Amino acid sequence: MKVEEESPRIDVETAVLSMTEDQVGESDAKSASTVFEVSQLNVYYGDFCALRDVNLDVTQSEVTAFIGPSGCGKSTFLRCFNRMNDLIETARVEGQVRYHGVDLYQSEVDAVEVRRRIGMVFQKPNPFPKSIYDNIAFGPRIAGAKKSELDDIVERSLQRAALWDEVRDRLSDPAYGLSGGQQQRLCIARAIAVEPDVVLMDEPCSALDPIATARIEELIAELKTDYTIVIVTHNMQQAARISDRTAFFSVQVTDAGRRTGELVELGATEHIFTNPDDPRTEAYITGRVG
Ligand SMILES: Nc1ncnc2c1ncn2[C@@H]1O[C@H](COP(=O)(O)OP(=O)(O)OP(=O)(O)O)[C@@H](O)[C@H]1O
Ligand SMILES: [Mg+2]
Repeated sequence: MKVEEESPRIDVETAVLSMTEDQVGESDAKSASTVFEVSQLNVYYGDFCALRDVNLDVTQSEVTAFIGPSGCGKSTFLRCFNRMNDLIETARVEGQVRYHGVDLYQSEVDAVEVRRRIGMVFQKPNPFPKSIYDNIAFGPRIAGAKKSELDDIVERSLQRAALWDEVRDRLSDPAYGLSGGQQQRLCIARAIAVEPDVVLMDEPCSALDPIATARIEELIAELKTDYTIVIVTHNMQQAARISDRTAFFSVQVTDAGRRTGELVELGATEHIFTNPDDPRTEAYITGRVG
């Protein structure tokens, strides 16, 4: 693999390759396993500061959970990791989100490529109005996969999302005919069909019953061997069950009465749920506020 020394590190692909080269002979284990480094991040909607001064790392092949009261900026923050906030006209991001060392908000970085590498699953399952097969094949087709490869990609992705056995005989049926839990697994299969590096999930189980939720949780535990997962959840038991590290966000009410979100603490999930450093975390997880 040849990486040109002079080339500016603006292309995510090149940068990821560069990282691998650079790490030869370097014994910085932290940077090798750090997928995202967020520093001094502020997010505004117009002149409203929704999130202030967030500093946080996300580690490879781990599940990182974001918890905190409604409106504290969890979804806003999650969207910063794949530049989904670009799609909101009033949103403005300050500070840095480095992905394998590359600042995702440099103007030269291609947001579409960023979203391919960093996929997203939303709260409400949102299959396309197409067949099960075409939902999965959609991204790979755009990425240039050959027709002969698609069957394999579709099967592999559905297998990975633990849905194959339930849909193998009805691949040409509309995706809307699936149950909510199946639709959410379809959306996970669609997200992983383009072989991302990271999967962001914003309350992926909140519209699902306990059985479907348990299936998605099992799936997340499986997927983390291959993907880095960042998940927003309102369900603290879920965060405790599935995540390796948990970040607790809260809201600070400014003098002007605006409610700005901030990161209170990030730590090993067990630590956050049993012995948090900050009294605000303790109050939230014990149900005294929030
Ligand atoms: N598109 C937008 N335009 C303006 N303000 C927004 C927009 N999206 C979110 N906000 C505001 O930013 C703040 C953070 O919202 P966000 O949706 O990130 O919170 P959240 O922690 O995900 O909440 P919830 O748990 O209810 O999903 C809130 O005050 C919200 O009203
Ligand atoms: Mg939200």
